[in-house]
Amino acid sequence: MKRVITFGTYDVFHAGHLRLLERARSEGDGLVVGVSTDALNFAKKGRNPIYPEHERKAIVAALRCVDDVFDEQSLELKREYILHYDAQLLVMGDDWSGRFDEFSDICEVLYLPRTPSISTTALIEKIQSDA
Ligand code: CTP
Repeated sequence: MKRVITFGTYDVFHAGHLRLLERARSEGDGLVVGVSTDALNFAKKGRNPIYPEHERKAIVAALRCVDDVFDEQSLELKREYILHYDAQLLVMGDDWSGRFDEFSDICEVLYLPRTPSISTTALIEKIQSDA
């Protein structure tokens, strides 16, 4: 049993998110996803996500490729989350390349290429400019 773990905000859920999660799941036998809390996003970006955390988590949890979700409350707790969920593989998009290599002492670390031309930030900007 190889459990995979990944983290993200998954705000205004889009096909790039879906592809990342499907590919992460295909690297193992089960996928657990840490969905960052509204408070964590506010601390990081100075604004709340468009979708509140319970909705972002519900969408991710409903996906066929996802087995479990939890609140990612702090960026500093990744090591604890990996150990708690007994994950053997950490998958992240390659916008994070190299940033999580420090965890290679407790699990495998894999960066997958991002899906080109789509991001939550770009979607929000497009919606705002079309309005
Ligand atoms: N992701 C991806 N391809 C995209 C967008 C995101 O593979 N086109 C991946 C990210 O690399 C990350 C996960 O999806 O591993 C969650 O990304 P998140 O930061 O929540 O979404 P973004 O669309 O990147 O949001 P933003 O534009 O606010 O950075």
